[in-house]
Amino acid sequence: MHIVTTTHGHTFDAASGQPLLDAAAASGLVLPYSCRTGRCSTCQCRVVAGATVALHPELGLTDAEKADGWILGCVRSAASDVVLEVEDLGGVALPAPRTLPCRVQSVERLADDVVRIVLRLPPTAAFTFASGQYIDVIGQDGVRRSYSLARAPAASGLLELHVRAVDGGAMSVYWFDRCRANDLLRLNGPLGTFFLRDVAGLDLVFLCTGTGYAPVQAMLETLATLEPVQRPRSATVYWGGRVGADHYHASPAVDGLRTVHVLSRAPAEWAGARGHVQDVFLAERPDLARAVVYACGSDAMIHAARTRLHSEGLPPGRFHSDAFVCSSAAPAQPVTQSS
Ligand SMILES: Cc1cc2nc3c(=O)[nH]c(=O)nc-3n(C[C@H](O)[C@H](O)[C@H](O)COP(=O)(O)OP(=O)(O)OC[C@H]3O[C@@H](n4cnc5c(N)ncnc54)[C@H](O)[C@@H]3O)c2cc1C
Ligand code: FES
Repeated sequence: MHIVTTTHGHTFDAASGQPLLDAAAASGLVLPYSCRTGRCSTCQCRVVAGATVALHPELGLTDAEKADGWILGCVRSAASDVVLEVEDLGGVALPAPRTLPCRVQSVERLADDVVRIVLRLPPTAAFTFASGQYIDVIGQDGVRRSYSLARAPAASGLLELHVRAVDGGAMSVYWFDRCRANDLLRLNGPLGTFFLRDVAGLDLVFLCTGTGYAPVQAMLETLATLEPVQRPRSATVYWGGRVGADHYHASPAVDGLRTVHVLSRAPAEWAGARGHVQDVFLAERPDLARAVVYACGSDAMIHAARTRLHSEGLPPGRFHSDAFVCSSAAPAQPVTQSS
C-alpha cells in the first residue's frame, strides 16, 4: 500500500494497480473526474514526487503535458508514496453512486436528433445529486452510457435526460426507435464533479454545445434558488449549435440571465452570433479575472476553450467542464509507462 499526499495536505492509501481516483474515493476524498476512461482530462493532476504507473493510455493529455509531469488519476496508480498537485474537493460531500432500477416515464422528441427522456425511480429510492452531475444508464441488453441530468433535484424524483442521436449508436437506436413508456432500465449514479461551486460576486459563464445544454439547465435551476448573497454578479449562457434547430429548448427563468445562441453553420439570414462559443464570449472583452466558466458538450470545444481562456487570463481553478466523450469505450489496452 502506498501513501498519496495532496498539495492541500490530505492523504489517502492507494494499492498498486488501483486507479488513484478510486483510491481517493475509497478514503472519502473527492477529486475532480468525469469520463473515468482517460479521455476527458477532468482528473488531470501533476506528480510532484514519487512514481506512478499508467494503467491505460492517457488519451486526454498532450505529449507536452505528459513530459511536464501531468497524469490522469482515473487511469494511473501509485508505484511508491506520491505527492500530487490536484484540485482537491475534500470539503465537498457528493452523494455516493448507487445502482437502481428505473422506468421510462416518457419519451419526447425535442428536435430531429434530440429526445427528452424522463425516468422514474422506485418511490423509496431517495435518489439525490448535485445539479450538473450525470448518471450511467444501463440498457436492457447491458449497454451502459453516460447522460447528464437536465433538471435540478425535484420532489417528484423524476430524472430528465436530453439525448442526441449518434449515427448507428447502440443506445441511440434504443432511445430513438425502441424506447417505450414503462421500459425497465437501470442507472448508476450520481457521477462526476461538474456542479456549481461558490459563484458569489463572479461573472458566471456557461459554454455549451448541443445536448451539453442539459447539465447547464439543471445548474440554472439551482442558480435561481440561491440567496442574494450567494448569487453571481452576472450569468450568461453561450449555447452553440450548427443550425437553429440545435437550440432545442428555452432557458429556465433566472433573474438577469442572458442567453446567447451561437451557430457554426448559420444561414445567411441569421442575425445572431456565429462561430465557436468561446470566441463569441471572448469577443465581448470580458473581465476574465472576475469570471468562472462551466463548459459542457463536445471535447473539441472544451479543450479549445480551456486552453484559450487560461492563456487570455482566466485564473486557475475557474474552468470546470464535462466533456461528452464517447462513453461506450472502456479504457484501451493497458500500458506500462511510468513517471
Ligand atoms: C460524462 C458524460 C456525459 C454525457 N452526457 C450526455 C448527455 O447528456 N446527452 C447526450 O446526448 N450524450 C451524452 N454523453 C454521450 C453518451 O454517453 C454516449 O456516448 C453517446 O450518446 C453515444 O452513445 P451510443 O450508444 O448512441 O453510441 P455508441 O454505440 O457508443 O457509438 C457509436 C459510434 O459513435 C462513436 N461515438 C460515440 N459517442 C461519440 C462522441 N461523443 N463523439 C464522437 N464519436 C462518438 C463511437 O466511437 C462509435 O463509433 C455523455 C458522455 C459522457 C462521458
Ligand atoms: S480522463 Fe480521467 S475522468 Fe476523464
